[in-house]
Amino acid sequence: MDRPFLDLGPCGPLRGRLRVPGDKSVTHRGLMLLALAEGEGRLYHPLKAGDTLSTVRVLRALGAEIEEEGPHFLVRGRGLRLKEPEDVLDCGNAGTLMRLLLGILAGQEGLFAVLTGDASLRRRPMGRVAAPLRAMGAQVDGREGGDKAPLAVRGTSLRGLRYVLPVPSAQVKSALLLAGLFAEGVTEVLEPTPTRDHTERLFRHFGLPLERGEGWVRTFRTGPFPARDLTVPGDFSSAAFFLVAALLVPGSEVVVEGVGLNPTRTGLLQVLKAMGAEVEWRVLEGEAGEPVGYVRARHSPLQGVAVDPGLIPLMVDEVPALAAAAAWAEGETFIPGLSELRVKESDRLSAIARNLRALGVEAEEGPDWLRVRGGGVRPGTVEPFHDHRIAMAFAVAGLPVGVRILEPEWAEISYPGFFQDLKRLCGGS
Ligand code: S3P
Repeated sequence: MDRPFLDLGPCGPLRGRLRVPGDKSVTHRGLMLLALAEGEGRLYHPLKAGDTLSTVRVLRALGAEIEEEGPHFLVRGRGLRLKEPEDVLDCGNAGTLMRLLLGILAGQEGLFAVLTGDASLRRRPMGRVAAPLRAMGAQVDGREGGDKAPLAVRGTSLRGLRYVLPVPSAQVKSALLLAGLFAEGVTEVLEPTPTRDHTERLFRHFGLPLERGEGWVRTFRTGPFPARDLTVPGDFSSAAFFLVAALLVPGSEVVVEGVGLNPTRTGLLQVLKAMGAEVEWRVLEGEAGEPVGYVRARHSPLQGVAVDPGLIPLMVDEVPALAAAAAWAEGETFIPGLSELRVKESDRLSAIARNLRALGVEAEEGPDWLRVRGGGVRPGTVEPFHDHRIAMAFAVAGLPVGVRILEPEWAEISYPGFFQDLKRLCGGS
């Protein structure tokens, strides 16, 4: 069967300013919290892409009214109590939606729901959320002992839990905090390694109960809370592709404006700096408790590095973009601490290694590490493995020499218009 493809580059210098679409993590969470709030709230500059449109569809099926007002969303919340859906809830490709929603539905007493998703999502581990929710009293079941979707949830009364995250996962932490809003007593999550804290910041924005210290966060049962408008910052994970593209293509200089610079998301900037990248950033304002600013990147010769594994949770979605930079760096880059990449939208560790090799780069993959021998890529064909970030990262890796991307439409899961933006910055080439 003929598969769609897109030929890109070789691209001249990337120059100019760019605003990327709204942050995916904050859009999912903003929609969910507004659906639980009382009254009307607006979500400004949301991401409107495959994943977050799945969240809109699912929340509508649970009784929230969500209208599009131009680029924004107007949400009429349900005041904590969702409606029982009449059909199976299809979460599409969105792991954040499925995992966070499990936390919310677990505490909706008496409500029955079945959650499913696309082939990729049905392969991803859900036991990491289902198990601690069950310890709170939740009724969750599914394939493989409740580890794989389709999953069935019957809402019950929950009790608080003190839980040490066995894997660094913001989705697990967030699911438990959301369940904690409906639970008797205290729900406390301890994280040995910090992960993105958008849920915590949004709890503050909505005035929800929250206490936090180093490595721990607590919440309690909430009463009804009023809706509050919120503005979603640009997605740093989307910006990352343009920053790396600017570093790789000679003569480039790109500024991404209005982008979220939450320190639990920007580990990539530290690694790029250590590789010798000319990259600078500045926080200029705050939106919904999130620091927002600009990042400027200029073409720079890069050096291979050994990445600190402690940084990986702060850049877990940027490893594909880092691999693109490593492919062009001088010498070897070693990236440890990647076991979580095996359970993303694809097995990202192996998807990265295979695409690097397809572009003529020496790459070795271990159980949880990647070794890349840099020096540049040659033209080739990229296989996205049904994974938006693989499609975008390897478009960037191949940009200086020209590359063919199979099924480029996967980028639309998190960034509709990605290739148009890339072409515009390349001066239309
Ligand atoms: C996300 C957390 C991360 C990340 C995902 C979005 C979130 O997943 O990879 O793209 O919005 O909380 P994990 O929690 O599985 O690390």
